[in-house]
Amino acid sequence: MRRRPQVLTEVREAPAPQERKTATRVLVEHHEVLRGLMRRLMETPRPEPGRRRALADELFDELWMHERIEEEVFYPAMRDVTPGIAAAWSEHRQLSDQLAALVRADPRTERFDRELGVMHDALESHAHLDEERQMFPEIERFADEERLIELGDRLQARLGRLRSSRRVRAVLRLQRALLRRTAR
Ligand SMILES: [Fe+2]
Ligand SMILES: [Fe+2]
Repeated sequence: MRRRPQVLTEVREAPAPQERKTATRVLVEHHEVLRGLMRRLMETPRPEPGRRRALADELFDELWMHERIEEEVFYPAMRDVTPGIAAAWSEHRQLSDQLAALVRADPRTERFDRELGVMHDALESHAHLDEERQMFPEIERFADEERLIELGDRLQARLGRLRSSRRVRAVLRLQRALLRRTAR
């Protein structure tokens, strides 16, 4: 009897059960994704504008999703644990504005490099200094671990849903296109 290789493929491609992690772990890992994109962008030279643009698009989408999961799930749940939430919200607005400036910039220009430098510093200041060095250790000290793991599950699930949503992808594509259309 002939084998049915497609069955084996299906088994191999079945999603692994979600590993449980604390909310702060999930967010730090997503920061790493953002940092990786930023690094690749900074390493991509001006004569590769298509690749620069594709990476800027990816950074735009990932940061948008990162802000959504923090603002809709993490920050509201941690409001009673840390006083840093209000400042974090306003830093998100600044990051979004800076990312819009980067997406608007022509990747063949010096302006793109300038906006990228500002974006890099703003992201490090918020994600690394304010969240990873201050807010997250404080949360880990005061919040119950089981609560943080449950919150981690919710963050992972929400991120997975955003990533796989065709509607979200379409909205993000439209937002980027509008930003570029209004570029000066
Ligand atoms: Fe944040
Ligand atoms: Fe974050």
